[in-house]
Amino acid sequence: MNVHIRYSEPESDDRLGHAYDGIGHRTIDVLKQLLPFDDYDFYLCGPPPFMQSPYDGLTGIGVRRERIHYESFGSGTGLKPGDRVEALVRTGQSGEGTVPVRFAKSAITAEWSRERGSLLEVAEAAGLAPLFGCRSGICGTCATKITSGAVDYIEEPLAPRRQDLLLCCSIPAGAGAPADGANPGVVLDL
Ligand code: FES
Repeated sequence: MNVHIRYSEPESDDRLGHAYDGIGHRTIDVLKQLLPFDDYDFYLCGPPPFMQSPYDGLTGIGVRRERIHYESFGSGTGLKPGDRVEALVRTGQSGEGTVPVRFAKSAITAEWSRERGSLLEVAEAAGLAPLFGCRSGICGTCATKITSGAVDYIEEPLAPRRQDLLLCCSIPAGAGAPADGANPGVVLDL
């Protein structure tokens, strides 16, 4: 087994070739230098933002998704947009259709649909810039007050919620599920 250790910010007493083998993030170009890139499976493990770049890079050079296996630190998260919501759809917790999302402070109304992902992604697509950190329910940075409506969690978050919701891993409750009358959606204090 060959191990290649990279530090994004080595300390002054870290010695190249001893403590670490390279500086900077592990990009797809670094992987191409280190690996023969033949007919292989790839295994990724780490926080989702750490894995997203190699995942995108590998699929970008034609590696099939089924050859890329990954495990998230913290709550499980899909790397392909819509993966997490697709999982909810498969388990019957969410369905087709759109649901209104009102950002009250910004006086903006958007629509959630399963292709649009989490409420954080809906807010960003609407031109808002809510605070976020991990984007996977761990840090609590994206906590936002909900004024009306309810949400389902794509994954059970690790961060405490109190009366706030975590934008990065939530979608409108019962989103798209068949119901009498339209889903009234959610109103967020954002
Ligand atoms: S961004 Fe970290 S919990 Fe949402």
